[in-house]
Amino acid sequence: MVLTPILTAHWDEADSYTLAGYKRHHGYVAFAKALKTDPDAIIQTVKDTGLRGRGGAGFPTGMKWGFVPQNDGKPHYLVVNADESEPGACKDIPLMLANPHSLIEGVAIASYAIRANHAFIYIRGEVPHVIRRVRHAVDEAYRAGLLGENIQGSGFDLDVVVHAGAGAYICGEETALLDSLEGRRGQPRLKPPFPAVAGLYASPTVINNVETIANIPYIMRNGVDWFRQWGTEKSPGFKLFAVSGHVQRPGIYEAALGTTFRELLEHAGGIRKGRKLKFWVPGGSSVPMLTEEHLDLPMTYEDMAAAGTMLGTGTPMVFDETTSVLKAVSRWLQFYKHESCGKCTPCREGTYWISDLLKRLEKGEGKMEDLGTIEDLCRQISGRSFCALGDAAATPFPAAMKFFRDEFEAGISTPADQAFNPLSSTVFVKAKG
Ligand SMILES: Cc1cc2nc3c(=O)[nH]c(=O)nc-3n(C[C@H](O)[C@H](O)[C@H](O)COP(=O)(O)O)c2cc1C
Ligand code: SF4
Repeated sequence: MVLTPILTAHWDEADSYTLAGYKRHHGYVAFAKALKTDPDAIIQTVKDTGLRGRGGAGFPTGMKWGFVPQNDGKPHYLVVNADESEPGACKDIPLMLANPHSLIEGVAIASYAIRANHAFIYIRGEVPHVIRRVRHAVDEAYRAGLLGENIQGSGFDLDVVVHAGAGAYICGEETALLDSLEGRRGQPRLKPPFPAVAGLYASPTVINNVETIANIPYIMRNGVDWFRQWGTEKSPGFKLFAVSGHVQRPGIYEAALGTTFRELLEHAGGIRKGRKLKFWVPGGSSVPMLTEEHLDLPMTYEDMAAAGTMLGTGTPMVFDETTSVLKAVSRWLQFYKHESCGKCTPCREGTYWISDLLKRLEKGEGKMEDLGTIEDLCRQISGRSFCALGDAAATPFPAAMKFFRDEFEAGISTPADQAFNPLSSTVFVKAKG
């Protein structure tokens, strides 16, 4: 398998984040082409590529754009979800740092296609360096006449606002993001109505992930067949796979969808020296874990679903045999408990209870019935919560129990740190002096 550097092609150039660096590689050529194209034809092109949202759910992008009612007399909005806060997800932030103009050009084309004159890029608050970089790139685009009024004499106006979140995972959920953008506390909204009909300020709004939108200029420039040369019928194109954890070379590997995890692992240099794979999570902590038997699965939406998991954000986390699966699941549940917005009871109460029971097992002070109680709590949360954060919180435990039940049972008598000495998993640098 070969890598397909497209979004990442020029990340190693010193000025890759500047307008000059971007323009050197055909930057904004696609936008110029788009401005001479009928907006509906652009939506049709995106539909024909079969591009699926890279934010986790894999919803078809062209179809989403097509839901926006036309000639309704209302303002339309494009919102880019750059909140990237899921444990394990680390692709949008590097993309915005290395090549923010691919995102801004994508924003310009997408806004033109859905007839929006205002776009927002909502970036997680904990990354001020990324916010600065994207703001700088937006300023450059304004100064070059690529944003603003009557862009390139086309009659199309577009203002782009870079908005800093305040650091809440729930604000990545698209409707909570909209509430946050409107100045409210970020909590999910009831759907329907869906944002495409009543989103930001109750107007039609498209919300897309950073990577999804960054694909648009390349699609606009190169066309449907070019995009479909990679991937499968149901998962066309290429993807940023961010491989993290116990591998020799963690990093972002851009490759065709359908690449197997074994191949990605080889690119990442394999498992760290002298160790072997224990489990891996294909796309953020919200998707079920897999093991060595799943190494040859193609990384596609359909193959991951058939294996009982999801491609999610396509950012595999890798764990070797020194890892306590109980501790890993316990950490994720602490995260979900902390990030639960509290709007609905199953998630607010359930994440609290599961987290406490897992901590007890971690200390080796659990009871046999705790395992059944946690399973029951997960069942009560899953499908009964107001938003997908609840479902996500109910995912890691049942998935881990499928493969590593004995480790959870050991939590009745043995502390996890005794069964898995943390020192064996950590490289220590001797302090000087
Ligand atoms: C708790 C939670 C957090 C989320 N965080 C993000 C995020 O940081 N970035 C993102 O693109 N999508 C996130 N999503 C998914 C979004 O709700 C939405 O599906 C996505 O932005 C749509 O973009 P796409 O169609 O381009 O994938 C999150 C969902 C949930 C439930
Ligand atoms: S599932 Fe959790 S995060 Fe989502 S609305 Fe309910 S309490 Fe809030």
